Amino acid sequence: MARPGARRFPGRVHIEVTSTQDPGRAAWLAEFFDRWYVARLAGESHDRADPAAWQPAELRAEFEHGPEDEVLHWLVALEDADDGDGAGSGGRGLGSAEVRMPVLDNTHVAAVTIAVAPEARRRGVGTRLLAAAADLAAASGRTVLRTETERPVEAPEDTWPGSIALQRWGFVPGLVEARRQLALPVPPDALDALEASARPHAAGYRWWAFAGPVPEPDVVAMAGLMARMSTDAPQGDLTVEPEVWDPARVRAAEAMRTAQGRRTWTAVAADATGTLVGYTMLVQSAHEPERLLQWDTLVVAEHRGHRLGMLLKVAALRAAVADAPEARRVSTWNATTNGPMIAVNEALGFLLDELCEEGEVGVEDVRSRLAVGPEGLRR
Ligand SMILES: CC(C)(COP(=O)(O)OP(=O)(O)OC[C@H]1O[C@@H](n2cnc3c(N)ncnc32)[C@H](O)[C@@H]1OP(=O)(O)O)[C@@H](O)C(=O)NCCC(=O)NCCS
Repeated sequence: MARPGARRFPGRVHIEVTSTQDPGRAAWLAEFFDRWYVARLAGESHDRADPAAWQPAELRAEFEHGPEDEVLHWLVALEDADDGDGAGSGGRGLGSAEVRMPVLDNTHVAAVTIAVAPEARRRGVGTRLLAAAADLAAASGRTVLRTETERPVEAPEDTWPGSIALQRWGFVPGLVEARRQLALPVPPDALDALEASARPHAAGYRWWAFAGPVPEPDVVAMAGLMARMSTDAPQGDLTVEPEVWDPARVRAAEAMRTAQGRRTWTAVAADATGTLVGYTMLVQSAHEPERLLQWDTLVVAEHRGHRLGMLLKVAALRAAVADAPEARRVSTWNATTNGPMIAVNEALGFLLDELCEEGEVGVEDVRSRLAVGPEGLRR
């Protein structure tokens, strides 16, 4: 007999599921985490020089801690072990999926990522994981499934498995992001020159950087800026609703990063009245210290045109590199339509290496396309 929560399919594959709300998740992690992670890493790394994969400790800490703003579901597709009655926990991991469901805003969306180990592809494993993810989305009242596939910029879209699968599964392209990387260290003279040429455009503004949590006096203003990332940064045709941020959510995100072994450097800019009008954040994981991740960068629309984007980035980079001299590169992602941000990054020396295609499909559309019924997949 199959265990509760497991779904069996023809072809000796079954899927095991847990979530951050599952009272049995500790037992699931003990039994399946390694196989979930190995399949995910193999799938997402294949044919990519630098997949920027999250490290197992970061993933696990997030899941165990449980984010306040999302429910996470993890799914692993396992080869059935040769255990006669099919009651066992299965053999090797073939593929993994993660489904993120925001709970404070954007409650129409379930964001899914699927990765199938190269040797297990073209057997329907990805489709089965998608079907199971769509069932979870439907059960939580979600109407839109969002996903993405990342590929090296030189890999043609028409032969990239993720791009083909997204099209086949009915995802409508919504946004293309480009990843650029900056080799560290950047010569200090180069940063000085960039700052010197930007500074005259920013008369009346101040900017500074700090490590770690947002100082208490600024946390309300920072929550306001973080909310504007969802409205002021390009989202293409994705159905992104304004995010809801308050100081508690800022602090919860900080606590999560600490649990994951991550540290941050933030640069902020204020206008002549002292109001914060922009910020940027760099993140380093203790589990992958040679990489800095460039997270949010925002200058609110009414304060653009003063080169604050460049000044913020230079300030954050100087602060991060002073504290983390072991970092060897910065990775950043921008919508390909975000000309001003890309211009800043290219002036800093970032080089394009990957594209990330994001798309959406209606949950019921994809379920009927995959012929998913109440009793499971019928293929
Ligand atoms: C995309 C991915 C998940 C597909 O996994 P999979 O187990 O091979 O998927 P399936 O066997 O269910 O195939 C799904 C469909 O995609 C298409 N497809 C996938 N890879 C293909 C390839 N190399 N060539 C042609 N078609 C391909 C096919 O149309 C296939 O359906 P079909 O075999 O019935 O015609 C896998 O290639 C992968 O892990 N890629 C890296 C991560 C990624 O890009 N994920 C994107 C979704 S989040």
